[in-house]
Parts: sequence; structure tokens; C-alpha cells
Amino acid sequence: LGTRISDSPLARKKIVVTAGPTRENIDGVRFLSNYSSGKMGYAVACAAARRGARVSLVSGPVQLETPVGVERIDVTTALDMDQTVRRLSGDCDIFIGAAAVADYRPTHPVAGKIKKHAETMQLELVRNPDILAGFAQQRQPHQLAIGFALETDGNHDLAMQKLRAKQLDLIAYNTFDGHSSGFEVDTNRLTLISRDGTQTPLPLLSKRDAANRLLDAIEHLITGN
Ligand code: CTP
Ligand code: CA
Repeated sequence: LGTRISDSPLARKKIVVTAGPTRENIDGVRFLSNYSSGKMGYAVACAAARRGARVSLVSGPVQLETPVGVERIDVTTALDMDQTVRRLSGDCDIFIGAAAVADYRPTHPVAGKIKKHAETMQLELVRNPDILAGFAQQRQPHQLAIGFALETDGNHDLAMQKLRAKQLDLIAYNTFDGHSSGFEVDTNRLTLISRDGTQTPLPLLSKRDAANRLLDAIEHLITGN
């Protein structure tokens, strides 16, 4: 293991990883969120630390142990996560967005508890900042931006569009079939798509193995082969 760490192009690189869901407050006792377990982002953070990287893991609320050698910063909302990423990522070498960031938050969260009244109620939502796209937009040329894309309809073009729209170096595309791949499970079937359009479909793997294959691809981006 010692030789592997010093051999890796990721050794001593500063990597910021986001993981888990965010929670968006409706009122003092309720929130909007999603089923992200955080397992994929934690696996990436763990595998990167094992290769000798200096890893900051910006984590939404999850039920997972902090990986050995990883600095973990807990956040709750997308706005928290955005601020924390901005603070930590200025001098990073690689940003990996694995969080399931809530796309919207309630426009007017209420301090107390909303009382029930009529049979229906409206909840107005406003877009959250795109944390990954924000990083990619204002990064230095040497900084790499890596994303994930969860699609429910198995369409690779959508992942490719996200890579282009957010100006990423690599995107790991994940088909959500509700079973073996996606949220809350220990396995993932990823396809890695790079800027030049190269697609590398991976077999169904444990999240740990999938994380290592993603890091192999990032090492190739760094070394240029
Ligand atoms: N992401 C982010 N900040 C957001 C939304 C998404 O950093 N506010 C990141 C995710 O961490 C992921 C990538 O962007 O790495 C793609 O997220 P995804 O939800 O698949 O795509 P969206 O761009 O949000 O588009 P949509 O949900 O409409 O498919
Ligand atoms: Ca989204």
C-alpha cells in the first residue's frame, strides 16, 4: 500500500468531494430532501485518501462513518454546501460533485411550524445554486471538475449534455433502475464520459470498486494517458 500511495498521481493532491443529500427547510420542523445515502461520495473520498490525496468531504446528513484520513465538513442545506465548497475549493486540484443537491428550496421558510388549514396548499420553491457548475465556471485551468449524473431513462445524451453545460472534465453517468444501481444500495453501474466524448461503460461494481475506477480515470486525465 505504501508504494501505491506514493506512486499515485493523486498523492498530495487536494480534492474536495460533495456527498449525500441536502435538506431544504419548509419550516422549523420539516424539510424537502431526497433518498441519497451518500455511499458513492464517501467511497470516492475514502479511495482518494488511500491514494494519498488530501480530501475534504463536504457532506449532507447521512448515516456513514467518516473515512480514515478524510476531513469531513457537515452541512445541511444546498446554500450551506455551496458556501463551504467555495471556501474550500479555491486552492483544490480536483472537485468531485457526488452530492444529490436539492435543485429547489422553499422560497419562504417559516420559523415556527406551519399549521394545517385548507385541503390543498401551495409551496413555492426557488432554484438552488449549481455547486458543481459554479466551481467549474470560476476555476483555474489546472483544476479538474468531475460530476455525477443520475438519469432515470437510460439516455447517455443527457449526461453528455450535463458535461458540456457545466463544462466538466469527466462525468460519471448512473442509470437509476430503482434496484441494483443508484441510491441506498452498495452497487453501481457507471458509465464514465469524458470531454472528448469517450464513453467507458463499467460493469456492475461495488461502490468502492466503482470509486477506484473513477479515480483511475481521473489519474489518466492528470497524466495524459
Ligand atoms: N449538482 C450540484 N449542485 C446542484 C445540482 C447538481 O453541484 N444544485 C451536481 C451534482 O452533485 C452532480 C451533477 O451536478 O454531480 C449533476 O446532478 P444532477 O441532479 O444529475 O443534474 P442537474 O444538473 O441537477 O439536472 P437535473 O436534476 O434536472 O437532471
Ligand atoms: Ca438535480
